[in-house]
Amino acid sequence: MQQDLKKILIDPEAIWKRLEVLAAAITANYQEKELTVLAVLNGSLFFAADLLRLIPLSLKLETLSVASYHGGTETSGEVSFNQERLPDLKGRHVLIIDDILDTGLTLHAIRERLLGEAGAASVRICVLLRKNRERLRPIDADYVGFEIGNEFVVGYGLDYDGRYRNLPFIGVL
Ligand code: IMP
Ligand code: MG
Repeated sequence: MQQDLKKILIDPEAIWKRLEVLAAAITANYQEKELTVLAVLNGSLFFAADLLRLIPLSLKLETLSVASYHGGTETSGEVSFNQERLPDLKGRHVLIIDDILDTGLTLHAIRERLLGEAGAASVRICVLLRKNRERLRPIDADYVGFEIGNEFVVGYGLDYDGRYRNLPFIGVL
């Protein structure tokens, strides 16, 4: 599996160090508010699991599954929600956790639904990676693990056609 990679971009130690900083910032910002985390599956599985264990708040965890890449490295431009109903987020302070901010289509679509029909009180966004490229929607993240160039990466949750998610580092395919 590892031999398919061009290079390792972010190693496990760097990920762990950065998670501690992100966790401290999130913990400080949600002292006064009841936090509900919405982890976007499958990409944020490892990131959310590791990050949330560093946050000593009495938070609630919900998940959402969306598909915006239908295999391959090209975005389809469409975001489909894999469940009919959203979790109950009415009046809640929601922190969305996702793997990567790329075109912004996915996070924009999720945020619209949370602030619209779901009636969340506030929505913030935390991503492991933010790609340095033009966004197709007006959206940014409040907490960012790492800025990366406009290249396709895998590992630590990120996949290519469903594979490589379980790599303990982030690499370029
Ligand atoms: P969006 O283009 O910002 O809507 O990102 C949608 C989704 O595409 C992300 O949540 C990832 O699952 C996937 N994605 C975007 N860039 C990459 C990448 O470099 N590697 C793996 N998945 C990616
Ligand atoms: Mg994906």
